[in-house]
Amino acid sequence: MKTISALFVVSWLSLLVQAHSRHDGRNKHPLAVRQEEPAPADPTPSNQTSAAQPSFTFSLRATNPTAVPLSSIVSGVENRPTRDLPTTETAGARPTGVANAPGLPDLQAFRQVRESRYPTYNEVPPVDSPEVLIWKDEVSNSGIEIPSFGPTTDDGSCEANAAIAMDPERCWWTCGACDHENDISACSEKNHWGLTFDDGPAIYTPDLLQYLAEANLKATFFVVGSAVYFLPEILQAEYIAGHQIAIHSWSHRPLTTLTDDEIIAELGWSKQIIKDVIGVTPTQFRPPYGDIDNRVRAIALAMGLTPVMWTRSSGFAFNTQDFDVNGGQATVEQVLSNWGNIIESAASLDTGFISLQHDLYQQAVDVATGYILPDGLAHQPRFTIEPIITCVNMPLANSYIETNNNRTNPFAAQLGVRSSPTPTPNLPEVTGSGGGDRSPEPGSGPDNNNGNPDAAQSVNNSGATIQTPLSVLALVLGLLAAYAQI
Ligand SMILES: *[C@@H]1O[C@H](CO)[C@@H](O)[C@H](O)[C@H]1NC(C)=O
Ligand SMILES: *[C@@H]1O[C@H](CO)[C@@H](O)[C@H](O)[C@H]1NC(C)=O
Ligand SMILES: *[C@@H]1O[C@H](CO)[C@@H](O)[C@H](O)[C@H]1NC(C)=O
Repeated sequence: MKTISALFVVSWLSLLVQAHSRHDGRNKHPLAVRQEEPAPADPTPSNQTSAAQPSFTFSLRATNPTAVPLSSIVSGVENRPTRDLPTTETAGARPTGVANAPGLPDLQAFRQVRESRYPTYNEVPPVDSPEVLIWKDEVSNSGIEIPSFGPTTDDGSCEANAAIAMDPERCWWTCGACDHENDISACSEKNHWGLTFDDGPAIYTPDLLQYLAEANLKATFFVVGSAVYFLPEILQAEYIAGHQIAIHSWSHRPLTTLTDDEIIAELGWSKQIIKDVIGVTPTQFRPPYGDIDNRVRAIALAMGLTPVMWTRSSGFAFNTQDFDVNGGQATVEQVLSNWGNIIESAASLDTGFISLQHDLYQQAVDVATGYILPDGLAHQPRFTIEPIITCVNMPLANSYIETNNNRTNPFAAQLGVRSSPTPTPNLPEVTGSGGGDRSPEPGSGPDNNNGNPDAAQSVNNSGATIQTPLSVLALVLGLLAAYAQI
């Protein structure tokens, strides 16, 4: 990526690191925070199969002949050079499969205004800008009642919020394991797999796009506004290729911890930057970390956004944990074992299913293109692998406000928040491990904590568990080294 300037790289790395280090001080540089934490005993075990690691079994129906070997999909691996997009999209282009889509905006114009137009990347945007004031009015005038209970505390930790995790009025997905009927959490038909990738666009996304094009697959990308700011050309490529673009917030904060106005700013700026880059505005969103309750749901609905989660069945979440390989909190063997469990669990559902995968890191892209997708394609009976919008039986055009069929799919706010949430009767016991150690997108709290017990963690003196960002330094150095060669 020859066009990437040094400034860009530094900004990007900072985004990458900060957006996903949950428990660092919000205003501190991640490396400064890193230094305050006790050094982990052995941050990069050189022998991945040592006896201390739990072993995971899995079998695959098929793999990609050009897959990156499993032994190279590890934490701390040297970052390979990135792939250029095969083509740059031209202004005015239209995506396949989206009837009546407007032409693609001109990215040159976007780049010229970028710095002055958008709030600081990776920070919760200010709530007093003229844009946010307009969005606040729209929410107030939507007719949707926003529940008056306040934000969760302590970064949304389950431990610190044990009482409210049990509150059915709040219906908190992450800590209370409460599912709401307005959330999309499965595909309608059995053997349909809603394929989703979170946190991009990112520098290895082009590898994933290449594989998806060759395999003739379409997915939903839940994109981070701050990442779109840096890599708009990748968002355009996703959209023009016929993938579904949906929202994943501006700065990847757990939304239940934010005020109403901050949530409006996060979602509003995400809608705005996506519209500016691809010309249309998403109708679906996924909350970072799956962190949603009835307050977040109501605000999102008032802004025309339907929540999309990942499937949970009998306490098992369809989370591959692919995100955790980069930081060393999971091995690729564990990810493939999770994948095997997802397929097995899907077999017992009456509906289809939605998985959680990521395109932020090289390792997550490598395990998807080398193993998970080839295996899924070889599954019998065959899976219909598709974006969320079509897996709930709507045309791709309904992914965007401008092309949505308003007759058959009324604007989300018109549906209102239906009265009764559907709390899961057996709320899992809320324990210390359920909150603080949630990885970026956890399964379903404590029940799903099948994480690597050896993952380096440190408990600070307030009892919150911190994910030690083991690979932060390695990642920064690795990426800088990779770019230095260009
Ligand atoms: C890694 O661990 C396995 C199992 O304990 C052992 O057989 C192997 O020799 C070790 N490899 C290295 C490079 O230490
Ligand atoms: C549906 O309504 C939205 C918002 O009012 C509008 O922008 C859009 O053009 C409408 N869709 C169609 C297909 O007319
Ligand atoms: C421990 O974590 C809490 C909550 O994140 C934070 O307020 C506190 O400052 C931390 N303490 C130390 C010593 O890092």
